[in-house]
Amino acid sequence: MLGERDESGNWGERDEIGNKLICINCETVFEPNPWLFKCPKCGSLLEVKYSEAKLSWDELRKRPLRVWRYKELLPRVENPISLDEGGTPLIRSNMFNNVYIKFEGTNPTGSFKDRGMTVAITIAKEAGAKSVIVASTGNTAASASAYAARAGLQCYVFLPQGAVAQGKLAQVSLHGAKIIEIQGNFDKALQMVIDIANNKTIYPLNSFNPWRLEGQKTITFEIYDQLGCPEWVVVPVGNAGNISAIWKGFKELKTLGLCNKLPKMVGVQAEGASPLATAWMKKLEGPLFVENPETIATAIRIGKPVNWPKAWKAIKESGGLFITVTDHEIMSAQKLLAKKDGIGAEPAGAASIAGLKKLIEQNIINKEELTVVIVTGHALKDPSSALDGFNIIKANQEEILHLMKGDFNEG
Ligand code: F0G
Repeated sequence: MLGERDESGNWGERDEIGNKLICINCETVFEPNPWLFKCPKCGSLLEVKYSEAKLSWDELRKRPLRVWRYKELLPRVENPISLDEGGTPLIRSNMFNNVYIKFEGTNPTGSFKDRGMTVAITIAKEAGAKSVIVASTGNTAASASAYAARAGLQCYVFLPQGAVAQGKLAQVSLHGAKIIEIQGNFDKALQMVIDIANNKTIYPLNSFNPWRLEGQKTITFEIYDQLGCPEWVVVPVGNAGNISAIWKGFKELKTLGLCNKLPKMVGVQAEGASPLATAWMKKLEGPLFVENPETIATAIRIGKPVNWPKAWKAIKESGGLFITVTDHEIMSAQKLLAKKDGIGAEPAGAASIAGLKKLIEQNIINKEELTVVIVTGHALKDPSSALDGFNIIKANQEEILHLMKGDFNEG
């Protein structure tokens, strides 16, 4: 266990989870506290801050490629609740020169969410929570359900009615989470979680929880171990936690003296749900929240991304950009990725490919530049999106042979 909490919710053993929390706005530093989700002074988001980690990257590399390979750079816990998440493939694309696809669909529940979830659920358990709560467009819910089941915690998921893909619903149901359907969109569901989570008994797993994002930054460490330091990293953006975590990972690599030149980050949003990208393209200084976000990529149908200040900073600091892609571009990219690279992605996962294609066409990303594209979720998550163009051949043996004639090696 992580030690007893005192009345203010702080752990008795100060450095048990290793690190401090720092407000990203007023920069006040707080003792580590699993229940602290926003700055008590100014209300802004918090970030985990590491004191000098003593580690040898060469030693660390001898461990299996997994999230917990990087445990010195993660919150210190006693018994990680793990499904061996991470260690996802980095696949060179057939479609573009010098582009590698980090395929997060191979995580245990089929999306990148498992990286953060192993950390957040472990902290929930070790902090004494009995149940966990999360608002989700589907993948976080699927992941939370699986990890909560493994931890023996009751999980409550708040889902926007009629807007969650079937595969994700099936996962949540299978793992035994309690589903609360919200009459409204994800943003409303998240606000309900924020309100409920304040009571310090039910542990919230959304990405305003800074501890969860720590797990997600391991995508960066794996990219470094598999490839080195790329020049561009392209990420689909919804609630904006993942891109923030990935950027944090790169900054930590720099602090460790491992990446001298950091990549430019690209945040890709669906046109109908683009509070950040639209504002960025208009050269504004902050987001233009969207009341009724719409996109076929339901995973990123979000109008008020809770992590926007972190993501905005990531794009600015890295010298990158936000862009939008249309639903048509997303669906074309999904097909292209499946047919040319053999990678099956759900629509939100393919949004990054659509964004990359656009940036190459616009000569913003040069074909020679080393680029990593994050494909965040598996095609099986959203089977109906993949069935467009579904075609079955009904034929007898003679007709089949005739049909396949061109494929036989004659002579
Ligand atoms: N891609 C997929 C497949 C996702 O499920 C999500 C987010 C994102 C990209 C965007 O990541 O929110 O960190 O910017 N899904 C959340 C969920 C919102 O509830 O599953 P983000």
